[in-house]
Order: sequence, then C-alpha cells, then structure tokens
Amino acid sequence: MKVVISPRGFATYGSEAINFLESKGIEVDYNNTGNQYSYDEFLEKSRDADGLIVGVDQIDKNFIDNCSNLKVICKFGVGLDNVDVRYAENKKIYVERTIGTNTKAVAEHVISLMFADAKNLYSSIKSVKENKWIKLTGSEINGKVLGIIGFGSIGQETAKLALNLGMEILAYDIAEIKVDSDMQNSDLFKIASIVEIIENSDYLSLNVPLTNETRNLISEKELNKMKETACLVNAARGGVVDEKALYHALNNKNIRSAYFDVFSTEPPSEEEPLLKLDNFILTPHTGSRTVESETRTCNLSASIVADRIKND
Ligand SMILES: NC(=O)c1ccc[n+]([C@@H]2O[C@H](COP(=O)([O-])OP(=O)(O)OC[C@H]3O[C@@H](n4cnc5c(N)ncnc54)[C@H](O)[C@@H]3O)[C@@H](O)[C@H]2O)c1
Repeated sequence: MKVVISPRGFATYGSEAINFLESKGIEVDYNNTGNQYSYDEFLEKSRDADGLIVGVDQIDKNFIDNCSNLKVICKFGVGLDNVDVRYAENKKIYVERTIGTNTKAVAEHVISLMFADAKNLYSSIKSVKENKWIKLTGSEINGKVLGIIGFGSIGQETAKLALNLGMEILAYDIAEIKVDSDMQNSDLFKIASIVEIIENSDYLSLNVPLTNETRNLISEKELNKMKETACLVNAARGGVVDEKALYHALNNKNIRSAYFDVFSTEPPSEEEPLLKLDNFILTPHTGSRTVESETRTCNLSASIVADRIKND
C-alpha cells in the first residue's frame, strides 16, 4: 500500500503523520523537494498509489484514469475546486477533506487583513523602510459592519473573533445558518440577504467555496453597490471576485480597498494591473499556514487516508 503526498508542509510538520502511516504498513512518498510538484511529476509518482494527499494540484479525469489502484484522495485543506470529485466518486474513489483543521488560521488571517487595512500597516511599514516617517491616520474596526458571505466554518470563526472586537456582523449563507446561542442572542449579529450585506458592509469577507454559483460572485454590479469606504476581503478562492471589475472599482475609488489571500492565477503575473495599485493587497495564499494548522492538517489527512485504505 502506498500513499503519495504533494503538500510541502509534510516535510516540516508531518513527522508524526508519516510515522503513523508507516506504522500501519503504508509506504509513504512525500514531497521534500521544497518545490510544488508539476502535474506530470505528481502523476508519475502516483500511478501505483492507493491514496493521495493533495494540495492545489489539478486532479482531473486524466490524472484519475492513470492511477489504477487509487482508493482515496484527501485534500490537504477544504476547497475541492481542483479535484474532479464527481468523476472520482463515480470510479468509487473516496474524496475527503480535512474539515476544521485550518479554520482558526484562516479566520485569524481575515482579521489580520482587516487590521492591516484599518491601521494602514502596509503603507506605514513601507514608509519607514524607505526612510520616511509618514503618519497616516487609520480607523478602528470596533463598531464597523463586517458582512460575511459563506457562513461555514471559517465564516463563523471569523464572526466570533470579530464580535469580540465589537464589530457588527451581517451573515449570509446559501444553506440554513445555525449558530451557537451566544451568537444568536448577540445584538451585534444578524442574518441578512446578499444585497443587504453588499450595501451595508464596511468590511466584506468572502468565505464561500469556488463553485459554478460562486464564480464572479462579486462583479461590477456588486462592486458598484458597495460603500465607497468599504474594504473587500477575499481569503476564499480566486475566481469568486471578477478581478477586472475589481481593478476598475479600486482604480476609480468606487470602493476603498481590497485585501486578498487568493488570486485567480497563483502566483499572479508580474504584469497584473491590480498589483500596481496601493489599495490592493495580496498575501500569497498563506491564510491556512500556521504551525498549528499545518500539523493538524498533516495528522488528520494521514488518518483519513489510512482509514480508507485499510477499510476498503
Ligand atoms: N486562504 C486559505 O488558505 C484558505 C484555507 C481554507 C479554505 N479556504 C477557502 O475558504 C472556503 C470556506 O472554507 P470553510 O472551511 O469555511 O468551508 P465550509 O464548507 O465550512 O463553508 C463554506 C460555506 O459556504 C457556503 N456556500 C456555498 N455556496 C454558497 C453560495 N453560493 N452562497 C453563499 N454561501 C455559499 C456553504 O453552505 C458553507 O456554509 C473553502 O471552500 C476554501 O475555498 C481558503
């Protein structure tokens, strides 16, 4: 039995998980190259694999067809937009994800992006490094309205943190929203429509998966309805926001700023116009990257894969 692992986090945080898999008699081939595998490189290693642990790798029909022993694919994370789930499941291959292991890390990242915006951290740090001493006046996030579209694990965890910071929360989800009684009873929490959220948020955080329904969820029409002072935060997936429309909205100051952790093409091209704007900030998809989250994700993905291989 063999498991092939592409996420580089295993080389640093996966020793317990690798020992666990080996203790079950499973051969482990993990990525210690320091580089992301190319499609062909990962496929070559995976042809005789019983299980895969995958990051953002494209796992399409061709990949699946070339792995004849495959029983389980586990996403190192939660977004399954890079895996042809339906095709895999039709071939009786389990597709799993590590629900919850990176929730806190991403929620803290969303809050960090909001603080970075409110306190002008990027421009302030840059000015000092450039031997300038520019004193910008920021704002407090206390008392501001945070709209959250996609109120699953990360959306809800973000709301909990934000409530403790005195923010007002407007939440929307396509599914019925169930929250704990503290949040339900809080005067600062309200379930709202997408339109209400778009029109009233000071901070708008997107926490939906990338699906056919959520692609370009925020486009020209929505950006035009947002407050001119609003900041758009996207730590979900590139593709949820129409980036061309966003460029125009930011350039024309229809909204104040956008703080993203994800982009439609990662990394973006050097010519990407959004990167030239001071009111667009992008972190390199590091929302889930904390020591704690990486370790939890290594351990949970290993145990999911071992269970599926052993019980098959
Ligand atoms: N930046 C990062 O490093 C990072 C890390 C983890 C996850 N993510 C992204 O964040 C997303 C959310 O993660 P999660 O753990 O909260 O997942 P989750 O499944 O717990 O929550 C997603 C929520 O979105 C809702 N949703 C789906 N389609 C919708 C729509 N059209 N409109 C409104 N709501 C909709 C779902 O009902 C669900 O409640 C993931 O799918 C992934 O793309 C990013």
